[in-house]
Amino acid sequence: MKMINKNFGKLFMLGLLPLVMTACNSEPTVSYSQDVKPILDKNCIECHQAGGPGTVASGLDMSAYEGLMKGTNFGPMIIAGDTEGSNLLVLIEGRADPSISMPHGQKSIPKQDIDTIRSWIEQGAKNN
Ligand code: HEC
Repeated sequence: MKMINKNFGKLFMLGLLPLVMTACNSEPTVSYSQDVKPILDKNCIECHQAGGPGTVASGLDMSAYEGLMKGTNFGPMIIAGDTEGSNLLVLIEGRADPSISMPHGQKSIPKQDIDTIRSWIEQGAKNN
């Protein structure tokens, strides 16, 4: 056990641990256009496109990648690689006050869809 710990520490010091972990991580790449956009189109776009109540109220227009990443009038809702700092995730996971959870006034989106968006943000929220 001691031996293992020692090697673990060594790997970490060399900065290799993150690399090893990435190599072992078999999670498939999440695509914005194939995976994320369809979820937003289904659950969010009716209110979050030009002229929609969500866009009018917050400035968040999710009809294209650029608008999604730009966020609201107050700033970005998605921070690439940062699932804790991405407020969009906070809202759809219901971690915020219910009065502002999204989709607004509706049932939350399926856990599986939330996980897809979470992984996509984790993987850098790319326009892929
Ligand atoms: C029925 C309409 C409606 C739907 C559907 C909807 N929204 Fe909203 N959204 C709003 C309104 C209205 C606001 C602004 C007022 C508010 O924050 O309550 C808003 C604001 C937001 C904000 C900004 C919050 C803030 O604090 O400024 C985010 C992020 C957001 N929505 C994400 C989403 C996501 C993601 C979905 C889909 C899962 C979604 N919304 C679906 C109506 C909607």
